[in-house]
Amino acid sequence: MCGIVGYIGYREAAPLLLRGLQRLEYRGYDSAGVAVLNSGLSVLKQKGSVGDLKKTFELSGDCMQGSTLGIGHTRWATHGDPSDRNAHPHLSRDGKTAMIHNGIIENYTALKKELSSEGYLFSSDTDSEVLIHLIDSIWNAHPEFDLETAVRNALYHIDGAYGLCVISEREPDKIIVARKGSPLVIGIGEGEFFIASDAAPIVEHTRRVVYLSDGEMAVLTRDSYLVKTVENVLKEKRVSELDFELEEIEKGGFDHFMLKEIFEQPTVMKDVMRGRVRLDDGLVRLGGIEDYLEQIKGARRIVICACGTSWHAGLIGEYLIEEFARISVEVDYASEFRYRNPILDKNDVVIVISQSGETADTLAALRLAKEKGATVIGICNVVGSTIARETHCGMYTHAGPEIGVASTKAFTAQVIVLYLLALALSKGRTLDDHEIELYLRELSAVPDKVGKILDLNDQILAIARSYKDSKNCLYLGRGFNFPVALEGALKLKEISYIHAEGYPAAEMKHGPIALIDEDMPVVFIANCDATYTKILSNIEEVRSRKGKVIAIANEGDEDIGVLADHVLYIPSAAGPVTPLLNVIPLQILSYHIATLRNCNVDRPRNLAKSVTVE
Ligand code: F6R
Repeated sequence: MCGIVGYIGYREAAPLLLRGLQRLEYRGYDSAGVAVLNSGLSVLKQKGSVGDLKKTFELSGDCMQGSTLGIGHTRWATHGDPSDRNAHPHLSRDGKTAMIHNGIIENYTALKKELSSEGYLFSSDTDSEVLIHLIDSIWNAHPEFDLETAVRNALYHIDGAYGLCVISEREPDKIIVARKGSPLVIGIGEGEFFIASDAAPIVEHTRRVVYLSDGEMAVLTRDSYLVKTVENVLKEKRVSELDFELEEIEKGGFDHFMLKEIFEQPTVMKDVMRGRVRLDDGLVRLGGIEDYLEQIKGARRIVICACGTSWHAGLIGEYLIEEFARISVEVDYASEFRYRNPILDKNDVVIVISQSGETADTLAALRLAKEKGATVIGICNVVGSTIARETHCGMYTHAGPEIGVASTKAFTAQVIVLYLLALALSKGRTLDDHEIELYLRELSAVPDKVGKILDLNDQILAIARSYKDSKNCLYLGRGFNFPVALEGALKLKEISYIHAEGYPAAEMKHGPIALIDEDMPVVFIANCDATYTKILSNIEEVRSRKGKVIAIANEGDEDIGVLADHVLYIPSAAGPVTPLLNVIPLQILSYHIATLRNCNVDRPRNLAKSVTVE
């Protein structure tokens, strides 16, 4: 949700900033801009992609040449439409100071009123612009202040969230950054420093990073960085090493990141299990929660909080933990949990799931759960993310950077972690070692089975051709695969803009059946399990209303071929691992339908990878 980059060092800043913005574009892509300092402040900003901005830079970026310090922004609009005037950086009225901001300034209306009465004119509709004028106003009122102090004093007046960078001609060898609610990472090079919303633009330059925490600021010069709290208390920060490679954030020959990430899943799944699973004696080792395991086993209840796709993984987690470990589980949208005064105390365990580790609602749910005394476990993909750092303990999904806005490999990685957690919680209690070993063997067989499902790509493309012009689509599944139906529907709607709904199959009769006619494709997850015959009846009901049926069925199932218009045959597996298999054809189907409709699958409209605002 908005990407921020900054650079101070000895290299040409503008091209470096533009490349960094391209790596962050999945965070927002409706407008982009850069500001650099050389003899004065030069700014380029416009509506559109970073690619468009790059073209403008190539045509008219001469004024930026020779600069070794600058900031850049790629925007996901919250206040003010995507337009040139609302693009960042925003400038002070004398044009000497520039600022980029990620987050929402909640009291911007009041601040705008005050600043307007001081004579400030606003050239954008954004909430962010008040902040640069506030800094400017404070600095003009206190010429004795340096830039850092002016920014600090401005932040005292701000309610809301920010990740920001400020540069000024008045102090030309400095970048001031601050964070509250919106992530910022400092990359430490040799004689140079990088700033970014996440490590993607940094890893090609240095592996050494410092993650700023909420309420912290940093002052970067060419030879030093200093981290302080917003209240001006010096902070000692740990330098972390990035644990991923540049290739992991590039497309590697695929047309889109989403497709690459779908096809990476067999490898990712093995990575998630690596070091955590010992097949011979059914041992599950989850280092990150080891010290809390007994406490979790004794929990009165587990509450899972997440948003979007991570919430769907949480629903599967509920089925898994209740099935294996017989601990009662409740799953809540983080955005609802945080505002409904949940009943929670030290006997409860809360699991927060987040790919990015920065989702504002999930973070707020985490903080609330801690406040109420619960033990909070994190399941995050981004190492060092805020959620990962603030939970009591946690497990990383190790899916590698996920760049496509639609989550794919992070989802299956989350489900695997939840599966392992459920087994770890059942050890010595509800399952014997042999049973655990069998379930681990089922899980270990999944990556190869997923490999086979990926071979259905061409067949799925052919089905996608038949349905690319549909207006609606229904997804139905039961048990472990009801959340997969929800996830299939979410994948389709978010990248193809076709309206899609997921339901537990048996619910169809209670409403959605009214929608079915010859224009309604219905995707059934129809594995051979306890509810198979019920699903067959649902398929008959759809057929008798002329609906079109696409079934995900198990190899060898001949009956279904007679009933469904299209069947995708996938390998059989034990019920608890089937979500990991069934979701794959649904991801691929959405991908092909979206690309056939010429949608930008990696950057669907109105979405951002990391939702750091409410
Ligand atoms: C959908 C998708 C979103 C995210 C949601 C939560 O494909 O990616 O629904 O799952 O915004 O994000 P994280 O997991 O980063 O908290």
